[in-house]
Amino acid sequence: MNDKKINILISKDQINERIEQLGTEISKDYLGKKLYVLSLLRGSFIYTADLVRQITVPTKIGFMTTSSYGDDEESKGLVNIVNDIPDNISGFDVLIVDDIVDTGLTMDFVVNHAKSLGAASVKTCVLLNKVERRKVEISPDYYCFEIPDLFVVGYGLNYGDYYRNIPYIFNWED
Ligand code: IMP
Ligand code: MG
Repeated sequence: MNDKKINILISKDQINERIEQLGTEISKDYLGKKLYVLSLLRGSFIYTADLVRQITVPTKIGFMTTSSYGDDEESKGLVNIVNDIPDNISGFDVLIVDDIVDTGLTMDFVVNHAKSLGAASVKTCVLLNKVERRKVEISPDYYCFEIPDLFVVGYGLNYGDYYRNIPYIFNWED
């Protein structure tokens, strides 16, 4: 990958601008509610950190880890809980935050999991919406950008164990 040319799809400024807008929208929608931001690790740690700082209503924040891609680019089709939600979310308005909805399998699984634990409401909020590869019918309630069927990295998204720290979203040219 290292000798290939990179193509910046979404800049740091574009990301910041959208997160500010989403934070405002979420703050309005969750006024008077019991917001619990459920951040899915590891992909959404940077997005969550930036997003919650744009949310002005009281919010609890917890993290959960599910199994995902590993080193290759293909979804395994199965979702497992590696680390579960650390709090009792019964009665909370849960907002699940992830880096990307691709096949939708992860989000679908976590939505059902949160519901089964008695959440008062469950909504989803992702940075990227890769609509073309959906295997289950799920559309995020909030998202920053829709992207085509490309493997992208940066801003929390990885290839192998790397590139999560790059502050913008990019892909490698063929
Ligand atoms: P799902 O296919 O919607 O279940 O997505 C599962 C996970 O795959 C996401 O949370 C990401 O961590 C990862 N993923 C999906 N598409 C990409 C990509 O283009 N780059 C990096 N990771 C991705
Ligand atoms: Mg992930």
